[in-house]
Amino acid sequence: MNVLVTGAAGYIGSHTVVELLAAGHTVTGVDDFSLGKRCAAERISAVSGQAVRIVELDLRSTPGVDALLAVGNFDAIIHLAGRKFVGESVDDPVLYFDRNIGTSIPLFRAAQQHGVRKIVFSSSCTVYGNPEHLPVTEESPLAPVTPYGFTKLAIEQLLSDLCVSTPELDVIALRYFNPIGAHPSGLLGEYVDGKPNNLLPYIMKVASGELPYFSLFGDDYDTEDGSCVRDYVHVEDIARGHVAALEALDDGRRGFRAINLGTGTGRSVLEMLEACRNATQHHIPTQVHPRRDGDAKEIFADPQRAAEEIGWKAERTLKEMCQDHWHFTVSATKRGRKKDEAISN
Ligand SMILES: NC(=O)c1ccc[n+]([C@@H]2O[C@H](COP(=O)([O-])OP(=O)(O)OC[C@H]3O[C@@H](n4cnc5c(N)ncnc54)[C@H](O)[C@@H]3O)[C@@H](O)[C@H]2O)c1
Repeated sequence: MNVLVTGAAGYIGSHTVVELLAAGHTVTGVDDFSLGKRCAAERISAVSGQAVRIVELDLRSTPGVDALLAVGNFDAIIHLAGRKFVGESVDDPVLYFDRNIGTSIPLFRAAQQHGVRKIVFSSSCTVYGNPEHLPVTEESPLAPVTPYGFTKLAIEQLLSDLCVSTPELDVIALRYFNPIGAHPSGLLGEYVDGKPNNLLPYIMKVASGELPYFSLFGDDYDTEDGSCVRDYVHVEDIARGHVAALEALDDGRRGFRAINLGTGTGRSVLEMLEACRNATQHHIPTQVHPRRDGDAKEIFADPQRAAEEIGWKAERTLKEMCQDHWHFTVSATKRGRKKDEAISN
């Protein structure tokens, strides 16, 4: 297929482009480089052996998006562009509605106008909020507790409504659980400036000595070891999930579907700390703090629908996730910031 990938210079987008190219699809990326790296196209080409173009465009520009789709002749769109930090969304909800919903509306309008009938959308397990029953299935109540989660649910709703008004449209919303890890080459991974919001980048910055200690928020939850539990999944598995979803959109079914991408196994923060100590062979000093408001005690996926409907299953082990994340952290530090910011073309 001829595929447009939005947010292609970002963490999940860059890995997704690599998997799409490996599967024989033709890819055009688009990104405004607000968070994505300009070196992404060069790095994707280096690991895939194929040239790729990432068009610089702010997707909130209706004329710009329209012009891109008018000439692109795309069969499908994989829409990843947006912002993803839960805490930041609580501090600045306007930014999240602007960046997430604001990028989606011109894109879906142009898709309608230019006859693109297949869309894969990056959703998130945050649409479930703090679930009462585990594992979380796609039928679990949708009850986001943050502006970020609300934007994901709002976009899902828009896509679901669009599938009613445009019966030829076929959409899969992938609800990712917690993507971690990196490309084993050390060339692609998650760049985080300052203090990270997500667990693995935070632990890795402590392991590398960039931050003095890891703050564990709450060790008195009603879980096996008292710390919170999440479902961590290798970013390469998540990337493969996009290819699987895209190819499933050819199965003749029409309409909106949501699919969880998780391993189905919950891992506690203390378990992740131990796995990272083993992977990095570094001391990771830890301080225990009181619980944070809004943190769900435990969440992990039921990944059965992904297996049944798109033939996807997470394959990478926890050890691989931590080792690859660490390898990227060390490689990026060695290369230095300037090299990773470099303009590729
Ligand atoms: N990483 C996670 O933990 C996670 C979990 C669940 C869902 N998601 C979703 O997956 C998607 C990708 O996440 P990621 O981790 O790769 O994040 P990322 O920040 O690395 O990538 C997002 C990309 O979108 C680009 N972008 C932002 N606004 C844009 C705009 N107006 N026009 C064009 N490009 C724009 C950024 O420059 C960046 O390259 C996001 O939609 C995110 O909400 C991520």
